[in-house]
Amino acid sequence: KPIGVISVPFDLGAARRGAAGGPHAIMQAGLEADLRRLGYDVHRYEPFPVDDGATIDLGTDKDAIATEGANTAQSKLNFVREVAAANRLLAEQVAATAARGQFPLVLGGDHSIAVGTIAGMADRYANLGVVWFDAHSDLNTAETTPSGNIHGMSLAASLGLGPPELTGIRGHAPKLKPENVVLIGTRSLDQGEKELIRASNITCYTMHDIDRKGIPLVMEETIRKLSGSCDGVHLSFDADSVDPLFAPGTGTPVRGGISYREAHLALELLCEAGIVTSAEFVEVNPAIDIRNETARLTVELIASLLGDTIL
Ligand code: ARG
Ligand code: MN
Ligand code: MN
Ligand code: MN
Repeated sequence: KPIGVISVPFDLGAARRGAAGGPHAIMQAGLEADLRRLGYDVHRYEPFPVDDGATIDLGTDKDAIATEGANTAQSKLNFVREVAAANRLLAEQVAATAARGQFPLVLGGDHSIAVGTIAGMADRYANLGVVWFDAHSDLNTAETTPSGNIHGMSLAASLGLGPPELTGIRGHAPKLKPENVVLIGTRSLDQGEKELIRASNITCYTMHDIDRKGIPLVMEETIRKLSGSCDGVHLSFDADSVDPLFAPGTGTPVRGGISYREAHLALELLCEAGIVTSAEFVEVNPAIDIRNETARLTVELIASLLGDTIL
C-alpha cells in the first residue's frame, strides 16, 4: 500500500503566517511511524521550493498589509502570483504521485493549496468528488471576498470561479462539478458564499445539520451521494473544522465545531466506505498551537482515514 506524502510549506494564502510550518509539525508529531505501523509503504517527497515569502517584501506584518488594502480593487487577491505558482507545482507533483500508483497525502500549508491538489487529481478523475471539512466554505471570489485572502477562495477556484491564474491550472476549468462537492462542519459563511451555496447544487452540512442528524447519517448520505456519481473522491480537511477546544493551532478558529470523536468517526466511516483516492490536511499552524496538539490530532485523523481502528 504505497502513500506519497507531499509537504507544502506555504501560507501566503492565509490571513496570518505560520501554517507553512504545518508539514514539519505534522511529521514531528509522528506521521511516518503511524503510517508504517498501519502497513503502508511511505514515500516522502522533499517539500518543493514554494515561495514562502522570503523573497517578498512583506513590510513588518502581512496582516496589516492585507487589512489595509482590503477595500481596494487590486488588493482583492493577496499574493495571487505566489499562490498560483505554488499551486502549479503542487498540481504537477500530485498528478505524478497518483500516476506512480501512490495515494497522494498532501500536508499544508494554508487552504489555498487545495487548488493545486484538486487540479492534480482532476487530471485523473473526470468526475472527481470532494468532501470539504471546514468551518468555512472557501467559496469567495475576487468580487465577494471580505479579506482578499486566497485560502477563502480555493473551493470557488476549483469550481471555475475566480482569477484565471487559479482556475486555469493544468489548462482546463472547472475541475469540479458543484453536485460532486460536499461541505461538512460549516459555521462561518460570508454573504456571497451563502448566495452561491443556495444557488448551486453544492451539498452543505452545516453544524446545525450535524447537530440534528448526527455524524453517522451525514457521512452515510455523503458516501452514498459521491459513490453513486464520482470516479474518485478527494478529502480536503481544514483543521478549523474541528472545535478549537481540540484544534487550537489554526489561523481562523471558529467555536462550535465538530468534536474530537466526531472528527475521528467521520474519517473512520470514509475509510470503511473505501472511496477516498487522495487527501489533504491544511491550516495547522504550529506558531499558535498548544503543545503541538493540533498537529498530533492531524496525525491521528490521518490514521483514522487510513485504517486505524481501536480494536
Ligand atoms: N471567509 C473568510 C475569508 O474569505 C475566511 C476564510 C478562511 N479560510 C480558511 N481556509 N481557513 O477570508
Ligand atoms: Mn514503494
Ligand atoms: Mn478552509
Ligand atoms: Mn476554514
